[in-house]
Amino acid sequence: MITFDNVHKSFGAHEVLKGINAEIAKGQVVCLIGPSGSGKSTLLRCVNGLETYQRGRISIDGTVVDAASPQVHAICTRVSMVFQRFNLFPHRTALENVMEGPLYVLKENRNQVRERATALLNRVGLADKTNAYPASLSGGQQQRVAIARALAMRPQAILFDEPTSALDPETVGEVLQVMRALADENMTMLVVTHEIQFAREVSDSVLFLDGGRIVEQGPAKELLRHPKHERTRDFLHRVMHPV
Ligand SMILES: Nc1ncnc2c1ncn2[C@@H]1O[C@H](COP(=O)(O)OP(=O)(O)OP(=O)(O)O)[C@@H](O)[C@H]1O
Ligand SMILES: [Mg+2]
Repeated sequence: MITFDNVHKSFGAHEVLKGINAEIAKGQVVCLIGPSGSGKSTLLRCVNGLETYQRGRISIDGTVVDAASPQVHAICTRVSMVFQRFNLFPHRTALENVMEGPLYVLKENRNQVRERATALLNRVGLADKTNAYPASLSGGQQQRVAIARALAMRPQAILFDEPTSALDPETVGEVLQVMRALADENMTMLVVTHEIQFAREVSDSVLFLDGGRIVEQGPAKELLRHPKHERTRDFLHRVMHPV
């Protein structure tokens, strides 16, 4: 579904991605872990065209993501993104936030969009919050609205960039639960996260990124339990035993 083939990306002289090779099959959940500054967000942003890359190739379902291509916009609406800080429109209600993309980007019928958006909010457990504004919602609730908004675009895959790391500890679980349900429904997901337990239980495979390179990749249970590389071991130790 998503293929990275020798992807290189620089900001000026600073090479941030140094030849990424990876594959995410349809219906798979892949967790991307790695230290701060290793290039995780940049890699995600290259997938949905928020960033350009200089060398190699990223393709989604066989179509190359190329910022210079006139198709890039259409391709990028096939993958939704969920951000660490929700990025909801503050002056729109939960329902309006979910309706925005289908209405103005996909240009779907308003009544149908409203019906689907209501069903999606119901699906993420927010049936009673359709008319609430983001400021009146908890972080966990806002993130669930953001997931409903991502789903409203009928994506072929969803990219998550540290979806729980801006949340109060007590609301992390409700967001992970929604993500777990999506995984059970075979949504293709690429998730940047420090939630190692989630990665172990939900993901099919894990990519460990360090210094712009994938140092190690493999089945989640295997890689997280028996990391082969010292850098992976160090990183996992630090994440699981924060000082
Ligand atoms: N727009 C930009 N312009 C210049 N440099 C950038 C830009 N965005 C990211 N970088 C640099 O690219 C490198 C990778 O950043 P990126 O945000 O992808 O890391 P990350 O792995 O997501 O880190 P974190 O865990 O802190 O979110 C960093 O050195 C960062 O400073
Ligand atoms: Mg990041």
